Amino acid sequence: MGDRLKEGGRLKDGGRLKDKVAIVVGAGQSPGETIGNGRATAIQFAREGARVLLVDNRLDSARETQSIIESEGGQALAFEADITGEEDCRRMAGHCLETWGRIDILHNNVGIGERGKGFVDIAGEDWERFMNVNLKGMYLSCKTVIPSMIERRAGVIINISSIASLISTGAVAYKSSKAGVNALTQGLALECAPHGVRVNAILPGLMDTPMAVEGRMRAYHQTREEVSAPRNERVPLAGGMGTGWDVAHAAVFLASEEARFITGVLLPVDGGQSARVG
Ligand SMILES: NC(=O)c1ccc[n+]([C@@H]2O[C@H](COP(=O)([O-])OP(=O)(O)OC[C@H]3O[C@@H](n4cnc5c(N)ncnc54)[C@H](O)[C@@H]3O)[C@@H](O)[C@H]2O)c1
Repeated sequence: MGDRLKEGGRLKDGGRLKDKVAIVVGAGQSPGETIGNGRATAIQFAREGARVLLVDNRLDSARETQSIIESEGGQALAFEADITGEEDCRRMAGHCLETWGRIDILHNNVGIGERGKGFVDIAGEDWERFMNVNLKGMYLSCKTVIPSMIERRAGVIINISSIASLISTGAVAYKSSKAGVNALTQGLALECAPHGVRVNAILPGLMDTPMAVEGRMRAYHQTREEVSAPRNERVPLAGGMGTGWDVAHAAVFLASEEARFITGVLLPVDGGQSARVG
């Protein structure tokens, strides 16, 4: 892992989320050399002063994130839950409230990608899996956390969508599930606004994360260069793909008081890709 990825491109952090309590769902990561969006966000939240509940259905991976945060002097706790189950989501919210007394930030990062199938070849059970993990999981985690935020008349929710929800892509099941995330975000934002709770989405573009790059290397038996070169070329902004840290920095901003007047926004973090038509 190069220095830029390891450090998040910042020399000094701290204070923007001081005394806040955050839940990051999907705080582990797919195996690989670079850093994932969820892990980078959990680390960056802790660097900014938040205590972070690291939720993942792979406890070992959430524990790795916990070790990184603790090695930097931050506070975090790994917690095993599968967010496609309502009972697990209730346990997650309950555990955070019992441990730290409140939930200021809910960051919904979980999402699975779709590879290689045309629409008519998508099996019904695969379609359901995308909807369950990518959309129903966010509905359930929001549903179980929002009551405590409304009670305190404060809170921030950040949902990770994708620019695939807006621009052309062949991955119809993934695209549909992420378009649902956008609708969920905007609908919730309006419903929660009178209660002082903000809800926004981040739409990552082509990111150099293990899920996207190593995932494709494994699926298509390609080298890193074969996967990365065409992805880099598709990004308008010089430098090619973004990293998990780019998503993390956007999430810190949306979670912080600096964004106190921002809700219902679908924020692309994509090097300009969604601005290009055709
Ligand atoms: N990398 C990209 O190029 C890109 C582009 C657009 C959007 N995104 C979005 O970013 C998000 C993921 O990014 P990442 O890099 O952190 O991925 P990642 O795969 O590294 O991390 C996701 C984590 O979620 C966990 N998870 C999966 N299903 C779960 C479940 N049911 N319950 C609890 N945990 C579960 C996994 O174990 C994993 O640790 C997804 O929502 C994805 O759609 C990524």
